[in-house]
Amino acid sequence: MNLKKEAGYKAAEYVTDGDILGLGTGSTTHYFIEAVGKRIADEGINVMGIPTSFQSLLLAKQWNIPVTSLEEHDIDLAVDGADEVDKNLNLVKGGGAAHTKEKIVDYSAKQFIVIVDESKYVEEIGNFPVPVEVIPDASRVVIQTLEDMGAECEIRMGERKDGPVITDNGNFVIDAKFEKIESPMHLEIDLNSIPGVVENGIFTQMVDKVIIGTSEGIKEL
Ligand code: A5P
Repeated sequence: MNLKKEAGYKAAEYVTDGDILGLGTGSTTHYFIEAVGKRIADEGINVMGIPTSFQSLLLAKQWNIPVTSLEEHDIDLAVDGADEVDKNLNLVKGGGAAHTKEKIVDYSAKQFIVIVDESKYVEEIGNFPVPVEVIPDASRVVIQTLEDMGAECEIRMGERKDGPVITDNGNFVIDAKFEKIESPMHLEIDLNSIPGVVENGIFTQMVDKVIIGTSEGIKEL
């Protein structure tokens, strides 16, 4: 069973005619976008998408989902993946370096649904290093501050590119591993107060529902 696909297709059932959709990024959201594209083709529903990355923009085009922007529309429903989700609905996102636009889109939506497979569900977030998008010139001093806060840091490197990963916004990503995240809500705020940080991948606000694809079927939190 493809658990990411199950979760993505389930989320597409929550889409209603006329919705403006926030289109998250990643391999799980891929299936949500596919399912929405199929509903447009099969049922003729009239929706528009606001992509959170070039990846989701390309997928939206592939599935003939009309795209718009936050300049023009508010979002009715955002659907997005996560790298970790805990029982309090705290998330870590940004494994695909798209968390800045994801947070703008997801936090502004009237409804925000997270879709994951069961491997992402954890007792407490923090095993997955927190992605921190930074202005490149600020990298060294931001790393110093993060290390003073107790994190082990690495600038994320490209796999099929020499040198650092460059985000869709032209920045670097520092992966910051904290031994334990005592208060996700405070850490989310504190990280963004470091000069040079654009956005971090902790999401503690706004989640309305989590759809988990499990080997026993879909679970909703
Ligand atoms: C993109 O930067 C991330 O926030 C993704 O939403 C997250 O990494 C989940 O991706 P997968 O669905 O591919 O696991």
